Amino acid sequence: MFKERLKTHHSAMSEGKKYVAGMGTPHTALMSVNENDSKLATIYIHVPFCNKICSFCNMRRSLQNPAENYADLVVREIEQYAALPYIETTTFDAVYFGGGTPTTLSGEALSKILKALKGNLNFTEDAEFTIETTVTELTEDKMKTLIENGVNRFSVGVQTFDDEGRKQMGRIGSGETAYERLKQLKSYDGVTVSMDLIYNYPGQTMESLMADLDKITELNLDGFSMYSLINMKETTIDNAGNERNDEEMFYTISHTMKERGYDFLELTKMVKSDRYRYIMNRHKGADTLPLGAGAGGSVNGLALMNPIKLDEYEQSVSDLASRKGMLFVPEYVEVVRFKGDVQTAYLPRNEAMYGSNLGEYERFRRELIEQDMVCETADGYRLTEKGIFWGNTISRHLSQMVG
Ligand SMILES: C[S@@+](CC[C@H](N)C(=O)[O-])C[C@H]1O[C@@H](n2cnc3c(N)ncnc32)[C@H](O)[C@@H]1O
Ligand code: SF4
Repeated sequence: MFKERLKTHHSAMSEGKKYVAGMGTPHTALMSVNENDSKLATIYIHVPFCNKICSFCNMRRSLQNPAENYADLVVREIEQYAALPYIETTTFDAVYFGGGTPTTLSGEALSKILKALKGNLNFTEDAEFTIETTVTELTEDKMKTLIENGVNRFSVGVQTFDDEGRKQMGRIGSGETAYERLKQLKSYDGVTVSMDLIYNYPGQTMESLMADLDKITELNLDGFSMYSLINMKETTIDNAGNERNDEEMFYTISHTMKERGYDFLELTKMVKSDRYRYIMNRHKGADTLPLGAGAGGSVNGLALMNPIKLDEYEQSVSDLASRKGMLFVPEYVEVVRFKGDVQTAYLPRNEAMYGSNLGEYERFRRELIEQDMVCETADGYRLTEKGIFWGNTISRHLSQMVG
């Protein structure tokens, strides 16, 4: 039915230009109180540093030691936002430290940020605090400090436990070290542990994939993200594996891990006991306050993208009032939910979005059902395993039908 499989939602997104209402600043858009009674808001904190650049990655990051004043800048940013009425009256449910590699910051620097968050902003009682990390930066001391300061979810970028694969992808440390670090992390009570797995990298065999799945199972991880290697122009890894492997490996992961008690939470995430509220809330259209250099998010209809260059970021923190963002009309949240439904493996529930293309959508849906990509459930039209494999491609087709 489809020729090309899109592997990420970035390529499945269509532009939201028609929903733009103009430019705004935090000091105009966030001066009113938050009257929305939902408590789903999230915070994204970007830490754009890495100790080593991996051969496959083109994230927003650079190879450098963290700036010494980075935590202080983020704290100042938090304090300034906290004084604005909208933020003062918002309750946050999830925080996500992403990167780059947030754990390139010292335990003290991260604790400073965590304390400033809790001291200045409102959180739900059981708010989720996630930190992304590589295994090498996750020393025992750092684990303890982070947990003591409220981190309750770790997203560990393992990619593979296979030493040959790790070498190819430019990962530091052996698979055995990675295994031991995860085991230690799992020994703490009340901590959710998830890892990133890359499959279909050059030279990967089915045996090595199965060995990775066995380790995830033995470690009893709460969940894992599964990414088929994407060959980016800017990256240095050799050609990614072929499409046949892609499909075979996807189904191997999915069948094997379903038998072992995991299920899809998202197109690229299988979980056993991980609610991953940060991403699920975002898919429901929740506000996301972006903090740190290179962070992006949207609060009360104001989409913000912080400068990634440190001097420009520092300048923008010292003059928050001059930060500019794009204002979106309130209906834009429906577009976010529309795409979010597909990411969480459902056809979009808001069928009014198709307008005069409703007939075209209904034909497409029938075809998806006939092709065993979608089935009807009490909760909506759910993507099957095959539908999940093609999920981002389906998402693009659906987005093109929005009237
Ligand atoms: C921000 S990055 C990683 C966080 C952390 N710095 C680390 O390396 O462990 C998030 C994840 O995206 C995935 N990723 C990055 N580039 C990719 C690519 N070219 N193909 C597939 N997955 C990729 C990796 O699994 C990675 O762990
Ligand atoms: S995968 Fe992680 S550690 Fe490697 S370059 Fe990308 S952000 Fe940095």
